[in-house]
Formats: sequence, structure tokens, C-alpha cells
Amino acid sequence: MLDVGCGAGQDAVFLASQNFEVHGLDFSAEALRVAERCAREHGVDISWHHGSVLNTPFDAGYFDLITDRGCFHHIGGPRRPKYAEEIARILKPGGVLFLRGCGVPLAPFYPIDSDVIAETFDKRLFEVSPDIPFHYTSDAGGIPARIVKIVRRTQKRVIPRRNDKKSCQAIP
Ligand SMILES: C[S@@+](CC[C@H](N)C(=O)[O-])C[C@H]1O[C@@H](n2cnc3c(N)ncnc32)[C@H](O)[C@@H]1O
Repeated sequence: MLDVGCGAGQDAVFLASQNFEVHGLDFSAEALRVAERCAREHGVDISWHHGSVLNTPFDAGYFDLITDRGCFHHIGGPRRPKYAEEIARILKPGGVLFLRGCGVPLAPFYPIDSDVIAETFDKRLFEVSPDIPFHYTSDAGGIPARIVKIVRRTQKRVIPRRNDKKSCQAIP
């Protein structure tokens, strides 16, 4: 599984301690250094990657599970389709993205709500569950947030019907 925008690695370290095979990705080298140290202290193995979620080094369909706690809400309007495109590429058909982020307009975050989710995640590629509000509590006080489960659809090949080049049928 992949933790995108893993920051100091709290989720990644917890999930590795639960026997997930974990990759953590972040574009902050400093955050990754803290995350590496945290993983060492907890005695877990995690593969760390320095880079952007908008352009990852992973093979297509590599992950069963991607978790995002607070990365997508840093990504503004025009870059959001690129985020969804990259998630669609690296998530296995049937794989799941758990997305958590700020649910209200609150700088510097770009809030996540059902409209944003519907605009960003193409229904032909993803099956989106209803988003659920929760309060994300932190040492700094916390923020109203939303969580949503997004499943990568299994794609169907479309082939022309025999003797009818105009119409198509989907095959599994
Ligand atoms: C709010 S922090 C959350 C960190 C961690 N997931 C957690 O819950 O503690 C957001 C993280 O996303 C990272 N980030 C933001 N945009 C990113 C991008 N385009 N690619 C990779 N990481 C990104 C930031 O460097 C930061 O570490």
C-alpha cells in the first residue's frame, strides 16, 4: 500500500506495524527524514519515496490500497485532475483510495466536499462512496474534515460487434 503525502510517517508506521507492506511518498525531504527515524524507532520496514503524488515512480496498477491524510487538500483546482489521473494509474482495478482532508474553506487548505470529489474523480474510472464528516483533532486544535472511500473500477475492453462496426459491446 501507499501513503501519499506521508509527512512524518505516523500512518505509514502504524500500518507497517499491522503487517501492511508500506510505501510512503512525500515531496518534503525533511518530513521523510523524520518519518525514516520514526520507522527505525518502531522497528518497521517502509520504502520511502521523495517526490510528488502528481507524478510518481510506481508501475501501473501497483497498489491495492492508497491512503491520503491531508495531502489532497494541499492540491488546488487545476492540479486536481492530475492527482486523480495518477491515482487511477497506480491503483489496481478494485483497489481503494481512502481520502481524508479539510472539509471547510480554511487557508491554506483547498476544502474537500462532495462537489469537489465528483468533479475530480471521473465516475467511469472510480466508484465514489458518500463522504463522511468528522472532526480531525490535532495538538493545534483540529479542523472539520471529510473522509471518503474511492474504488478504482475494473475497466472493460470495448470491442466492435461482428457485422456492426458502429456499435460496441463491453466484455469483462
Ligand atoms: C498535512 S501534512 C499530512 C502528513 C501526514 N499524512 C499526516 O497525516 O500526518 C501534508 C503532507 O503532504 C505533503 N504534500 C503536499 N503536496 C504534495 C504533493 N504534491 N506530493 C507529495 N506530497 C505532498 C506535504 O509535504 C506534507 O508532508
